[in-house]
Amino acid sequence: MSDVILRLEGIEKTYFKGLPGEVQVLRGADLTVRPGEIVALVAPSGAGKSTLLHIAGLLDTPDAGRVAISGTDMTGLSDRRRTAVRCADVGFVYQFHHLLPEFSALENIVLPQLANGTPGKTAEQRAMTLMDSVAVSDRAHHRPAELSGGQQQRVAFCRAMANNPKLLLADEPTGNLDSATSDQVFGALIALVRATGMAAVIATHNLDLAARMDRTLRLDQGLLRAE
Ligand SMILES: Nc1ncnc2c1ncn2[C@@H]1O[C@H](COP(=O)(O)OP(=O)(O)OP(=O)(O)O)[C@@H](O)[C@H]1O
Ligand SMILES: [Mg+2]
Repeated sequence: MSDVILRLEGIEKTYFKGLPGEVQVLRGADLTVRPGEIVALVAPSGAGKSTLLHIAGLLDTPDAGRVAISGTDMTGLSDRRRTAVRCADVGFVYQFHHLLPEFSALENIVLPQLANGTPGKTAEQRAMTLMDSVAVSDRAHHRPAELSGGQQQRVAFCRAMANNPKLLLADEPTGNLDSATSDQVFGALIALVRATGMAAVIATHNLDLAARMDRTLRLDQGLLRAE
């Protein structure tokens, strides 16, 4: 067992390496997140927040550096093992919710549980409980296009929480919402995360929201610095 949920060490990432228009995004970023911690990630647009979260969430690989989840080094693991860890241990809320449009809200939360081996009935019950906790269960049988932006984002949280991950990564989860809805969605998110004791890294442009987290890290010149 490890008391560190996520460790990033010396993460480097450059797009179009060696080509004209090369973009050096991460230049040796380090991060340690422990159970129960909620960390805000702030930086201007284009600084590399999504890039960093995708690497931490095993959706992308760094050019150099190490990613460890619960003490297990992910470098050099097979795609199959990485996918299994991602599915079981990491919940990801995308910048744009990325719900599957042809499935209902409920099905969007049930599917990752089935992929993780949870029986259908149990998965449905858990999905309904999660939706209840963020007040969207009345929209369970509607497709994403029939939900408001705030409801879609709350369903996306429920999907990220579906397998009870150790680590929640959320990429500007309230970026597209008005401030009242953003406050409400964020409040629901924080309550859920606090109740489970999981660790979370949440990218946001909103410094008031960042102030409600345990600490804030700023991504600056490809490095992470404490605020
Ligand atoms: N797949 C890609 N190919 C080439 N360049 C990319 C790619 N993804 C991101 N970039 C570039 O890398 C930099 C960091 O992008 P990233 O999306 O991580 O920023 P961000 O901090 O999340 O911005 P925002 O706040 O606008 O979401 C930007 O300059 C972007 O144009
Ligand atoms: Mg982004």
